Amino acid sequence: MASPLLIVSLIFVCLFSSALSSSVVTHLPGFQGPLPFYLETGYVEVDEENGGEFFYYFIESENKPAEDPLLLWLTGGPRCSAFSGLVLEIGPLKFVAAEYNGSLPSLVYHPYSWTKVSNVIFLDSPLGSGFSYSRKDEGYDANDASWSEQTYKFLIQWLVEHPQFISNPLYIAGDSYAGKIVPMVAKRVMDGIDEGKEPLLNLKGYMIGNPATGEKVDENSQIPYAHSMGIISDDFFEMIQKSCSGQDYRTPTDSQCQMYLNLFNNSFLSEINNQHILEMYCPECRLEPLHSFASTTSDKRILKENKNILQPPPFPDLRCRCYVYTLAYYWANSNIVRKALNVKKGTIKEWIRCNRHLPYAKELKSNIKYHLSLLQRGYRALVYSGDHDLMVPFSGTKQWIKALNFSIAEDWRSWHVGGQVAGYTMTYSNNLTFATVKGAGHTAPEYKPQECLAMIMRWISSALL
Ligand SMILES: *[C@@H]1O[C@H](CO)[C@@H](O)[C@H](O)[C@H]1NC(C)=O
Ligand SMILES: *[C@@H]1O[C@H](CO)[C@@H](O)[C@H](O)[C@H]1NC(C)=O
Ligand SMILES: *[C@@H]1O[C@H](CO)[C@@H](O)[C@H](O)[C@H]1NC(C)=O
Repeated sequence: MASPLLIVSLIFVCLFSSALSSSVVTHLPGFQGPLPFYLETGYVEVDEENGGEFFYYFIESENKPAEDPLLLWLTGGPRCSAFSGLVLEIGPLKFVAAEYNGSLPSLVYHPYSWTKVSNVIFLDSPLGSGFSYSRKDEGYDANDASWSEQTYKFLIQWLVEHPQFISNPLYIAGDSYAGKIVPMVAKRVMDGIDEGKEPLLNLKGYMIGNPATGEKVDENSQIPYAHSMGIISDDFFEMIQKSCSGQDYRTPTDSQCQMYLNLFNNSFLSEINNQHILEMYCPECRLEPLHSFASTTSDKRILKENKNILQPPPFPDLRCRCYVYTLAYYWANSNIVRKALNVKKGTIKEWIRCNRHLPYAKELKSNIKYHLSLLQRGYRALVYSGDHDLMVPFSGTKQWIKALNFSIAEDWRSWHVGGQVAGYTMTYSNNLTFATVKGAGHTAPEYKPQECLAMIMRWISSALL
């Protein structure tokens, strides 16, 4: 006779089974031969009401999958596909930057992948990013709270289906705007652990790169950074400092300050690459500033109109770093690729690397309280900053970290890779490490893959950077 417990367990398993579909991918179009790593793609339902499912790419560690950490990687934007993280930043594949001639872009193995030391889930989130979709338009209304809550839901259901990874050390990670969401997800996981929610996740900490915080310092630090890097004059800098004193640069109320900031944006910022100030400026690739749009009804109307229109992004100069971003568009929108990835038919018409057509209610709300809750409980955190990023300058990140008032365990020093300085680091008594990546831009591993892999290997094994 079946015990009530068994019946309950069976119902439980059945309920969750229907929430996930996954498949193993051994070959990818554009990549020669079988993939030299384990790749699984799939969907997890995160919004029953609207029929919303998150799409993910899961890559097992190339080292010891059973013991290595499990990393959940979110990409920023919001609504940049996690495929960006996979193919441009920390995954084991990259595009060959060759001129597009109509045939499928080629992919090759990328040796400085974080999958060398960890199992990584690349999650297309929130709904409307990459291949994640909603059957009803309402599912595309997203904000920080819904994004982090659905991500938590995803994680629980994914682990129910992959119980072999429940005991692996778990880290939540991401950069740019995802840096704002990562601590919110980690805090949600922490609360779940406190409540005894099954499965019991083995959260160890989180890592964020050039992260948004919702604090004004992210943007306010752009001016002193631009000044220190020789982009604006001493006089102009002093004029801004004087008229913008005490202002939030995202929403200045002083008209003089507003005028100076417009001048800064239109005359200085607009002609350089704000994600890496030393690299070529390619207007085709410019991302909007972190706090530039909100959810409105007109956004939704545009969404309806654009839904079935294919709008290929223009190709920039072949020398631009972002040339491969456009290659990714052609790759991901090819039918044979979608078939290989087991993308559900009739879900996403057009894959857009960073989808700006959907509403996202950005709030100028600080996430510092999430950092504090996690850090005070001893969870580990790595905050790294490409030091040539003008979007979220390292100097602003350094400021909010300092304002947490934690005591310093190890003061500012250089860290090295291959006998060269790879950046500078500082550790705090409560397991918080800050590190700059010298010469890197907004998404540090995209610019300095070898250094960033060394950084993450050392940090994961609790060694000094
Ligand atoms: C397009 O370029 C690829 C290399 O990037 C090459 O293998 C292929 O033959 C070219 N196709 C055509 C039609 O020229
Ligand atoms: C730092 O992290 C380690 C490993 O997770 C933990 O054992 C230790 O208690 C933490 N330290 C503090 C000060 O919280
Ligand atoms: C840090 O210390 C300053 C000065 O004492 C205080 O104003 C601030 O509230 C403290 N911050 C936190 C997060 O406790």
